[in-house]
Amino acid sequence: MEEIEKAKIALRSTFDTLEDKKQVFKAPEMRALFDGMREIAPEDRAAYGKAVNDLKTEVKSWVADIEAADEVIESIDVTAPQAINAGSAPSFLPSAQGSQHPLTTEINYICDIFQRMGFVVEESREIDDDFHMFESLNFPEDHPARDDYDTFMTDEGLIAPAHTSTMQNRIIKKYTSNLDAGEPISAVVPDRVFRNEDLDATHEHTFYQIEGIYVSKAVNVGNLIATLESYMSEYFRQKLKTKLQPFYFPFTEPSFEFAIERPDVLKKDNSEEQKWLELGGCGMIHPNVMKSAGLDPEVYTGFAFGFGIERMVMMKYGIEDVRHFESANLKFLRQFR
Ligand code: PHE
Repeated sequence: MEEIEKAKIALRSTFDTLEDKKQVFKAPEMRALFDGMREIAPEDRAAYGKAVNDLKTEVKSWVADIEAADEVIESIDVTAPQAINAGSAPSFLPSAQGSQHPLTTEINYICDIFQRMGFVVEESREIDDDFHMFESLNFPEDHPARDDYDTFMTDEGLIAPAHTSTMQNRIIKKYTSNLDAGEPISAVVPDRVFRNEDLDATHEHTFYQIEGIYVSKAVNVGNLIATLESYMSEYFRQKLKTKLQPFYFPFTEPSFEFAIERPDVLKKDNSEEQKWLELGGCGMIHPNVMKSAGLDPEVYTGFAFGFGIERMVMMKYGIEDVRHFESANLKFLRQFR
């Protein structure tokens, strides 16, 4: 109906100028349409009435769209005392507004893959001692390799662990009976670690690592590579190659840094630099580490690996800055719901 089309165009321009969008229902153009009913021939009234109603429904959707766009997400001041962010009357948010942190979701998924491969999941500690952080891992006292793990310490000399390898000694001891029963020791430890870092897009003072430990008889580097390749292919959901380069860690011998073939979707171009992505360290567990956990390295061998979880999650989703994870930024977090 022509007059309704015309009225719609006029209504839209009035609507666009309105401060309070709901006033559109009282606009003269709207009134005129309803008043116009009287001039319509009785046989056309039903069609006219329907057209006017349809227009009204459409106008309602204009208002709803504007209201939705106007809903501002208040930023959260993470340094403020709790009361400010909670508002005057703290109360629980409806659960529909909550969700898991993306890192929690990913860690659960990562553990799920390792569990299917026969690994048990163990927790690390957020405060540890010199023995587990260094001594049991074959760092001699005053050895310069300790400087690579610059972290935080309490006045009592307790340490915020700089890696999840602190759990190697405990895990080997805890599961020694597996070996007696002819079963391997196989565990992963996804947990928080701490480093004294200058913060930037790829460095946080607190982040997550996942440690893997496997001990049995006649374990070799081939088993290590096969394990890493199966895991990575599963996590990134495509077949990926792994590259090991010689490296040094006091607690593994030989030691390697490992890189994966960057998944296609994450390649910026086809250059050689874009081909590989460094993910972490690994190697064959050092005989001294075995001994400090009470195992005879002549009988048992094993491998260990450790990599940064954020690094891997960032690669998977194309996240450009590691600080997003701890930012409490709802715009970032809501993308993972
Ligand atoms: N803990 C090492 C690091 O954080 C990584 C690693 C784990 C290396 C296990 C070898 C074996 O740098």
